[in-house]
Amino acid sequence: MTDDVPKIELHLHLEGAAPPAFIKGLAQEKSIRLDGVFSENGSYAFTGFEQFLRTYEAATSVLKTPEDYARLTRAVLEQSAEQGVIYTEAFLSPDFCGGRDVGAWREYLAAMQEAAAGMRNEAGIVLRGVVTCIRHFGPEKARETALCAAETAGDFITGFGIAGDEMAGKPADFAYSFDMAREAGLELTAHAGEWGGASSVRDALRDLKPTRIGHGVQVIDDPVLVDHLIETGVTLEVCPGSNIALGVYPSWDKHPIETLRSAGVRVTVSTDDPPFFHTTLRREYDRLADTFGWDDEIVREVNRTAAQAAFCDPETRAELL
Ligand code: ADE
Ligand code: ZN
Repeated sequence: MTDDVPKIELHLHLEGAAPPAFIKGLAQEKSIRLDGVFSENGSYAFTGFEQFLRTYEAATSVLKTPEDYARLTRAVLEQSAEQGVIYTEAFLSPDFCGGRDVGAWREYLAAMQEAAAGMRNEAGIVLRGVVTCIRHFGPEKARETALCAAETAGDFITGFGIAGDEMAGKPADFAYSFDMAREAGLELTAHAGEWGGASSVRDALRDLKPTRIGHGVQVIDDPVLVDHLIETGVTLEVCPGSNIALGVYPSWDKHPIETLRSAGVRVTVSTDDPPFFHTTLRREYDRLADTFGWDDEIVREVNRTAAQAAFCDPETRAELL
């Protein structure tokens, strides 16, 4: 229905977008046993958010070399291009790419960047990287991650963010890392308001000063904060299928994305970790059309919002708008 609208995806975890068959194949090649990662039908196995994070990290453990990440980047971008995506931002984690050592990180990055350049030529899809620290790994590791980000900020690495368990620590613990990234010229996003309520978004905005919030949907419980988002133009990277698969909301019709959008909040649509949640970007838009009557005009508006909030240079943005 909305297939002719070119899509922009702002919230995609690179490892979280790995098809199960890709991870399984790599594990076989390397003779690595992956216990408990897959269910009998071959999909990723987990119930609930904590187990999701464990499964995610176990699956990621087979990705060991820059070449593995190059292959993953190609597989993920191929998948996104098939969904009509023309521009995507991926969360990249030095924690998994060389253990936050800047020299090793540069090697992983070079491999991912080269793969992305190839996919731009082959499929016309553009990738930018958002270096992401992991909240439950703690503030010290986040500082090392921020250093990796600051040292490699440029045309490809354009943003810095935080993901992981939102209930671990508090945003202020990560302010130093966000300050370092901002000073290096990176744009900022923070996962908040997926699990931690509206107050978690308030704290993240105050202490980390991002222009975008990953998820952020729980602001719906705080009308004053909703007004603040509208006034300041903070953009939400909303991932409805992820929220429903993880049990943040019980069903599509209970999801607040349409209430937020129609109130004037800048909302965008992404898949987060699509194979984990049995979703694709097309499926997200189909469900939004079925549930809330989203037509081409709304889909165009949401993708225009994404282009305006993208962490890219003005020339790239002009091509997306
Ligand atoms: N890492 C991958 N997916 C995530 C999510 N939905 N929330 C927090 N961290 C994540
Ligand atoms: Zn996420």
